[in-house]
Amino acid sequence: MGPDDGGAAWCYGQAVKVSLPVVESRSAVYEPLAPRPAGFAVDGVPPLVDRQGRRYTYLRLSVTDRCDLACVYCMPPGGEDDHAVRRELLSFEEAARLIRVFGACGVRRVRFTGGEPLVRKDVVELVRLVRDTTDVAERVMTTNATRLRHLAGPLRAAGLDGVNISLDSLEPARFRRLTRGGELADVLAGLRAALDVGLDVKLNTVLLRGDTDDEVERLVDFAWDAGVTPRFIELMPLGEGAKLPRSARVTAAEVLARLRHKLAPAATHQGAGASSAPRGPARYHAAADGSGRRVGFITPMSDEFCGSCNRVRVTARGDIRACLASRRALSLRDLMRGGASDLDLAWALHWSLTGKADGHFFVDGQVHEHEHVGMSLIGG
Ligand code: 5AD
Ligand code: SF4
Repeated sequence: MGPDDGGAAWCYGQAVKVSLPVVESRSAVYEPLAPRPAGFAVDGVPPLVDRQGRRYTYLRLSVTDRCDLACVYCMPPGGEDDHAVRRELLSFEEAARLIRVFGACGVRRVRFTGGEPLVRKDVVELVRLVRDTTDVAERVMTTNATRLRHLAGPLRAAGLDGVNISLDSLEPARFRRLTRGGELADVLAGLRAALDVGLDVKLNTVLLRGDTDDEVERLVDFAWDAGVTPRFIELMPLGEGAKLPRSARVTAAEVLARLRHKLAPAATHQGAGASSAPRGPARYHAAADGSGRRVGFITPMSDEFCGSCNRVRVTARGDIRACLASRRALSLRDLMRGGASDLDLAWALHWSLTGKADGHFFVDGQVHEHEHVGMSLIGG
């Protein structure tokens, strides 16, 4: 049911006209929730569809804003200055309850993110709770893999389907410098463990010009040899990434040019089925040799994909963020701790998405909003 299909007794237009005071912190602008309209969900909880008609089926849930690495484009040296303390974090029960409400609103896939999700104590128990008490069909994680060697088996047994592993360099010294202390060998052992237990694995690389851009082919060969798909993500000017010079950014077109001899020229999206919508913003190029291997490109800078955005984010503190590039936030945690019902929460999800912008404005030199937003605080 969409906002304009006439089936709902309530519609988005009623909710968004209200202008409310905002409360601002360094990394978030909190907007008080409008009251739940009487007609909301009289015919059942509607799916999450925004004013542009984008439908939200994918939740990225951050479980911690901390990380055991501090990649130069993501985390300040020594960490952020306002990491959440324990009571500020969503409890596992609160997180699972939110996922049930998201599920009732049509969300089918959950990705656990961070910071680094594996530094959250007992995160395996959260994965198990989500498998056992929610009806989301797919549970995946984005991780730096430093702790995956020992956790891959327990995570798989608890119901995790796949991991995206961040890997920017295959040179141990370079890796150590870019991650400010990480050991490449730990990550490679984590990758091996993930494959051994049957997790679906992808590798994510953010290249930096004049630094790691000479490893493009090596990263692809390494991934293909391991039987996994490499993906190149364009550096976004978020948080620490906004402090790096523009010249550090490497476009997908440049990477593709380097791989021209290896790849078919035409790109495809990865759909969940032949006729379904793309699962995410990645475009894939198949290997020219017909082997079925692929390379993925995620192009937030050179080809804004916001028109097909299907994702919504919840931070470790329990703030819903309709867009990675906007500081607009609403604390679902405070609503829950204040006694909100599941219907109140469902309304809060819908309300949060009504104000979402059409695009991210990353390439608009006048817009500095996103510079305030660090990836580790929001969950990638
Ligand atoms: N631009 C692009 N990707 C980023 N990540 C973190 N910060 C940025 C940024 N500024 C990515 C990491 C990792 C994931 C957790 O988020 O490379 O793959
Ligand atoms: Fe969606 Fe915002 Fe990401 Fe664009 S920047 S794809 S609108 S979350």
